Amino acid sequence: MKVALTGAAGFIGSTLADRLLQEGHHVVAIDNFDDYYSGKMRFLEPHLDKGSFELHRTSILEQAEMARLFQGVEVVYHLAAQAGVRISVKDPMRSHQANATGTLSVLLAAKEAGVRRVVSSSSSSVYGNARKLPVSESDQAVPVSPYAASKLSAEMYCRLFYELYGLQSVSLRYFTVYGPRQRPDMAIRIFTDRALKGLRPQIFGDGEQTRDFTYVDDVVDAVYRCGSCPDPKGEPLNICSGRTVTVNHVVSEILKATRRTDLKPEYLGTQQGDVDHTWGDNRKARELLGWRPMVTIEEGVARFVSWYEEKREMHAEM
Ligand SMILES: NC(=O)c1ccc[n+]([C@@H]2O[C@H](COP(=O)([O-])OP(=O)(O)OC[C@H]3O[C@@H](n4cnc5c(N)ncnc54)[C@H](O)[C@@H]3O)[C@@H](O)[C@H]2O)c1
Repeated sequence: MKVALTGAAGFIGSTLADRLLQEGHHVVAIDNFDDYYSGKMRFLEPHLDKGSFELHRTSILEQAEMARLFQGVEVVYHLAAQAGVRISVKDPMRSHQANATGTLSVLLAAKEAGVRRVVSSSSSSVYGNARKLPVSESDQAVPVSPYAASKLSAEMYCRLFYELYGLQSVSLRYFTVYGPRQRPDMAIRIFTDRALKGLRPQIFGDGEQTRDFTYVDDVVDAVYRCGSCPDPKGEPLNICSGRTVTVNHVVSEILKATRRTDLKPEYLGTQQGDVDHTWGDNRKARELLGWRPMVTIEEGVARFVSWYEEKREMHAEM
């Protein structure tokens, strides 16, 4: 099948590119290699000479170009975005343009090109500070950051395009994704990098905030299955491990894996836009996709640390 993949050079996108190619698909990969962090091209390098892989260095905001690239494409996996809560607090317009306007552009182009389905990327952050945990898709979404607002707006466009124009879509609410290739602005990577340099982990808040960390291969498996599952009818789906752990627990696993249990965490003030707890109910995704997350946080952290130890010289500039 011919598929398109936006954000193909990113952390989750490049891992999904590996899977799509392994499964025998023709991948039209799109990424503008934005300046949020560098070094992404090396994730795609192994694929550049494959006949089933084409890379287009362009922005999803180029709607006419997207419609041209989507010709003959059955499924668009849409992962391109300005990810990250903190940058959105500093520069809300940047997040809005990439995430809300960008998704609208992808949907318009998909509709024009006759694409069957758009699998879009949302975020657990849309829930804000949830009143009850674990959160399920029917719970109210109350964003507390511009990033979350832009993602919720993208979700609404996905649902509307299904209802108004019959374009099949689904918005996947990923919960803190981690694993090899993780973005340099994300906590697990920052803690690991500091531990390997002999620096104490710096934790925002008291470390008792909890997160539903989801291993990247589990996320990619769910995203992949969304290309062929029964019609998701424009709805959101939680993609999460369904388990929750404190940041203090994750840090202690990282210190064990890096053999630096001597380093004692340092606690800093809380960050604007961050939520206290995330914990998702993944029953809807399990039922629709026949999917279940497989990797525990202990196993996932060990795998991430071993990837980072091996690659960090190469990724030093990222
Ligand atoms: N990593 C997580 O924990 C997490 C959690 C929730 C949601 N998400 C969502 O998952 C998706 C992938 O996230 P990631 O962590 O892999 O981020 P990432 O930053 O590694 O990947 C995003 C990619 O999109 C590209 N991009 C940005 N703007 C673009 C544009 N205008 N046109 C074309 N390409 C553009 C970037 O160059 C980058 O390669 C995003 O939609 C993100 O919001 C991620």
